[in-house]
Amino acid sequence: MISKKVESALISQIQLEEQSSRIYMAMASWCEVNGFPGAANFLYTHSDEERLHMTKLIKYVNDKGGYAVMQTLEMPESKFESLLEVFEKILKHEEFITESINQLFETAFKAKDFTTSQFLQWYIEEQIEEESMFKGILDKFRLAGNQTGGLFHLDKELDALAVAKPATNPAQ
Ligand code: FEO
Repeated sequence: MISKKVESALISQIQLEEQSSRIYMAMASWCEVNGFPGAANFLYTHSDEERLHMTKLIKYVNDKGGYAVMQTLEMPESKFESLLEVFEKILKHEEFITESINQLFETAFKAKDFTTSQFLQWYIEEQIEEESMFKGILDKFRLAGNQTGGLFHLDKELDALAVAKPATNPAQ
């Protein structure tokens, strides 16, 4: 049985994961209409992954005797200056999510809820992986510069990355 305090902290994280899914869906849509089909494919896939992060948390809360009540979401940003801006914003958002996961872990640990702390280890590792992946993508942007040819290749690379991602499905 989880405490009300831990349940409420987990529900806030569920809201953030669902919001992340919407943010990436909005970015995918922008990429699709602005000539970046690879980036769009990558972000549609990433949006799906965020939904899996959300579902995993919902099932955990309900399984532990809580009730994961869905929360209100905000309208995501839909106008971007460039593909670089999209990915800079993603990294910033993931750093914010990492901070939130760390705080959630601290809440569970301080409440002596070691089961939830253990469960959250997966999210801590996932955040390390995601931050590293997005930093890697931004490094590629620096190499590509802002030339059309460079961005074309980067878009192709993002497309390939989208194909490789489903293996990390956390529900498995
Ligand atoms: Fe749910 Fe992008 O981490």
